[in-house]
Amino acid sequence: MTKTALITGITGQDGSYLARHLLSLGYTVHGLKRRSSSINTDRIDDIYQDPHEPNPKLKLHYSDLTDSLNIVSLIQDIQPDEIYHLGAMSHVQVSFETPEYTANANGMGTLRLLEAIRILKLENKIKFYNAATSELFGDNDGTAKNENSGFYPRSPYGTSKLFAYWTTKNYRESYGIFAANGILFNHESPERGETFVSRKITRALAAIAHNQQNKLYLGNLNAKRDWGHAKDYVKAMHSILQHHKADDFVIATGQTWSVRDFIRKAFFNIGIELSFLHHGIEEVGVIDSIDEVVFTQTTQSLPKHLKVGQTLIEVDPKYFRPNEIEEITGDASKAKNDLNWEPIISFDELVFEMVAHDLKRIKC
Ligand code: NAP
Ligand code: GDD
Repeated sequence: MTKTALITGITGQDGSYLARHLLSLGYTVHGLKRRSSSINTDRIDDIYQDPHEPNPKLKLHYSDLTDSLNIVSLIQDIQPDEIYHLGAMSHVQVSFETPEYTANANGMGTLRLLEAIRILKLENKIKFYNAATSELFGDNDGTAKNENSGFYPRSPYGTSKLFAYWTTKNYRESYGIFAANGILFNHESPERGETFVSRKITRALAAIAHNQQNKLYLGNLNAKRDWGHAKDYVKAMHSILQHHKADDFVIATGQTWSVRDFIRKAFFNIGIELSFLHHGIEEVGVIDSIDEVVFTQTTQSLPKHLKVGQTLIEVDPKYFRPNEIEEITGDASKAKNDLNWEPIISFDELVFEMVAHDLKRIKC
């Protein structure tokens, strides 16, 4: 029997990877997208299917997590076997500027979906995946976080996701819904939103390499994250809903890198070694050496506009957050034991893939 999945946030990074994964497994996929003044389906354009074709396996519907009536009516029509709830205002820094909307879309949005399942009496039919986050935990305090670690969110985004996490757990316990939380640590890809730090770095690198930008301004270079690849992480989402019981799982690599490490590795891929000088808001990243052969091979251009000693990275305090998680590492042992899930793509491969993608993109 073909299964039917409903994905909220299908136009986002994870939604696009998950849709591909589920289609490859034979699912019929329904995706919810927001109306926008310009087309916002770039990430899924290559898998889009014309609704006039017979039996399309991917169908898109207009929706918004703030619209209960729309959510109830869509779930009633689609009757999905699995809901992957990925839609959210997902930017931590922006959540400090739009806290009310963030709470509404992320917190109440999750409640609306679960309540729709209950109202429609689909508790025994639908399995529900909630996109929870390592932002629930707060800082590391020296230990890698697992499913039993305490929570201490540090942003409106984090608190909205805490509400969503507990709501998911409570609907599981109260109504017997197969409702599970995937507590995912940072995961990136060439499809990552342009204002998250990893993609901001790789896009700027491509622009600097092609003499279209002089410098990259960033915030906290000391912040450390446990960075995986979205392609590996969406497989975990699917496995979580195939587990014999609804449960919560940490998904992480167990390795932590600083923003500075990410920058160094990214530029190393194009033959540029950076040194970081000074501290705090005075810190700068300057060119230590240029391997012209590697630069030319990877960028298809010559580094004529770049010189040893030139400053490429500066700190702009406007990117500092009112509150920050300095370092966070995950312990995904439970996912390994119960789901046989492990990350496959290494940090170096992730950075390389993102750099290569943005270099190719800038030439198009
Ligand atoms: P993303 O790229 O920002 O995608 C978010 C998706 O949610 C987009 O499709 C967006 O639509 C949609 N959305 C936002 N507000 C909405 C609303 N009011 N109504 C309906 N849809 C709305 O995020 P992602 O990286 O794929 O992350 C997916 C989920 O995992 C999110 O819930 C995020 O908080 C969570 N998460 C992510 C990470 C990570 O490192 N990536 C880690 C842990 C948890 P538009 O395209 O129209 O903006
Ligand atoms: N975005 C951004 N821009 N972050 C910067 C910058 C900058 O210019 N400079 C330094 N950083 C630091 C941030 O302060 C943070 O410590 C770190 O880089 C990572 O920032 P983001 O890439 O914005 O990700 P995030 O960790 O805040 O949140 C992401 O991961 C969470 C999982 O832990 C998002 O995807 C969340 O939705 C997700 O829940």
